[in-house]
Amino acid sequence: MRDVIIACDFKDKEELYDFLKKIDKHRPYLKIGMELFYSEGSSLIKELKKQGYKIFLDLKLHDIPTTVNKAMKVIGLLNVDIVNLHASGGIRMMKEALSGLRMTNKDTLLIAVTQLTSTTNEALKEELLINENMEDTINHYAKNTKSAGLVGVVCSPLEAPLMNKLGLISVTPGIRFSDNSNDDQVRVTTPALAKELGSTYIVVGRAVTKALNPSDAYEKCVREFI
Ligand code: C5P
Repeated sequence: MRDVIIACDFKDKEELYDFLKKIDKHRPYLKIGMELFYSEGSSLIKELKKQGYKIFLDLKLHDIPTTVNKAMKVIGLLNVDIVNLHASGGIRMMKEALSGLRMTNKDTLLIAVTQLTSTTNEALKEELLINENMEDTINHYAKNTKSAGLVGVVCSPLEAPLMNKLGLISVTPGIRFSDNSNDDQVRVTTPALAKELGSTYIVVGRAVTKALNPSDAYEKCVREFI
């Protein structure tokens, strides 16, 4: 199952296809997030699926259970490979999401974001009024994810061992080669270390998309991780 997913943080279809042309000897797993999805809509997803790309649709749903159920039912029709939501929406929301998805699709993996990596310990306490520390909160949300019947979480590779213990797959961003800059990521891991820690999928954005030779950078990720 282990694979390298490329984060396609592009503003529109033109930018995306310019990039895909640079790595056209591969058919990599792609992460399509809110920016590209809101600009191009579901027709882009259908187009990419037709061309044989695997897709992680990173839309991070979070709403009342009924609304998420109906949204997931529609997303199921797109036949993406992975889709996600926020675990902070609660167990009932996650269960409803899964049952909505399964009405139209039996294969798409549903995973949860535990805490956004942009949330600081300070914000957790002072803004969100969560008194537990970050690690315990992530652990607790992961257990909720598991009990709602979801298969995995988005997390740092450093949390992959814990997710493995809970029987959850881990989709892990924050990947850099040892000679890259960290950009705005705080805790970064190389593909090789992510493998050692037991990540199921690594999500790699700028280390591949902004590389001088994206194809070589992608191949390096695959060599190190798979
Ligand atoms: O360019 P870079 O490799 O940092 O991109 C990582 C991708 O993973 C981005 O699309 C970012 O939004 C996403 N992501 C993340 N940390 C999370 C969840 C998602 O970096 N906790």
